[in-house]
Parts: sequence; structure tokens; C-alpha cells
Amino acid sequence: MTVFLIGFMGAGKTTLGKKLAPKLQCTFIDVDHLLEQQEGMSIKDIIAAHGEPYFRQRESETLRSIDLDDKIISTGGGMPCFHDNMTWMNAHGITLYLNVSEKAIYSRLKTVDREQRPLLRGLDDEQLRIFIKEKLTERRPFYEQAQLDLDPISEPLNDVAEKIKNYIR
Ligand code: S3P
Repeated sequence: MTVFLIGFMGAGKTTLGKKLAPKLQCTFIDVDHLLEQQEGMSIKDIIAAHGEPYFRQRESETLRSIDLDDKIISTGGGMPCFHDNMTWMNAHGITLYLNVSEKAIYSRLKTVDREQRPLLRGLDDEQLRIFIKEKLTERRPFYEQAQLDLDPISEPLNDVAEKIKNYIR
């Protein structure tokens, strides 16, 4: 089984993926984390040193380099929107969109260290709110190509695991 978790920053992809993996007898992989290991630096530093287009190219290559067998794979928030990654993921596994409201994303991202998140650097609260609104509008058409969607805030973990199992049955 291969499951790709997609959704905006702060939607909880990593948290859900880590909990879901043992329930589905899978290994958890975070694409950003894998890329950081390969490059020997953080995503923030990769983007600062080489720019976003380089990062998008490398995240796409990293995705395609993973051995997909029995993996729950957490992807970066922008990944489905570049290099036909959404089409590729739909062809290679089950895609699951963590459909979290704009409000919930804002309240989560409000408290993270924005300086550590390349796309959020320097934004004040109001700019953050506008950024989320605009980016979500731009990205939703990609996220909505996912085969399954759920709200991880309201849906219990066991229900999510069942939803995936039923889908592949
Ligand atoms: C990004 C989200 C980040 C990371 C990079 C760009 C985005 O991942 O890939 O900073 O474009 O939304 P998370 O969604 O895991 O925070």
C-alpha cells in the first residue's frame, strides 16, 4: 500500500502520517525530511541558497526516488502544484487530502516560528491571514484532485485508517 498525504502547511500531514503508518503496517516517510538529508541542509537553507525553482525540482525528484511499497508519505504543502506531481501521485498510490479550514490553518500557523518557514518569513498576522487565503484558493484545484479527503481535526484516526482500507478493498 502507498498513501500520499497532501494539504496546506499546518494541516497536520506529518502528525497524521506518523500515527497512521503503524495502523496500516506501513513505514512513514516525509519527503521534505528526505530531501533535507540528501542535500545536507534544511528546506529553508535550500531555498535561500538555490531559489524556489531548484527546490521544486528537487522535491519532485525526491518523490519519484522513493521505494513506494508499504509507505505513508507526507508531502510538502506546495508539492501537488508543481511538475505534475499530483497526477504522478494519483497514478502511483492513494492520495489523501487533509482538508483543514482556512481558520484552523491560520490559528496553527500563527504560533509557528515564521522565520523557519521560507514562505512565511517576515509576514505579520494580517499578511499571514491573506497569504493563507490566497494560496489556498490557488492550490485547492490541485488538492481536490486527491482520491480521498478528510478533516483530521474532526475525524478520529481509526476512521481515517478504515476509510483508506475500504477504498482499496
Ligand atoms: C511549502 C511547505 C513546506 C515545505 C516548503 C514549502 C509550501 O512543507 O515544503 O517550505 O509551499 O507550502 P509543509 O507543508 O510540510 O510545511
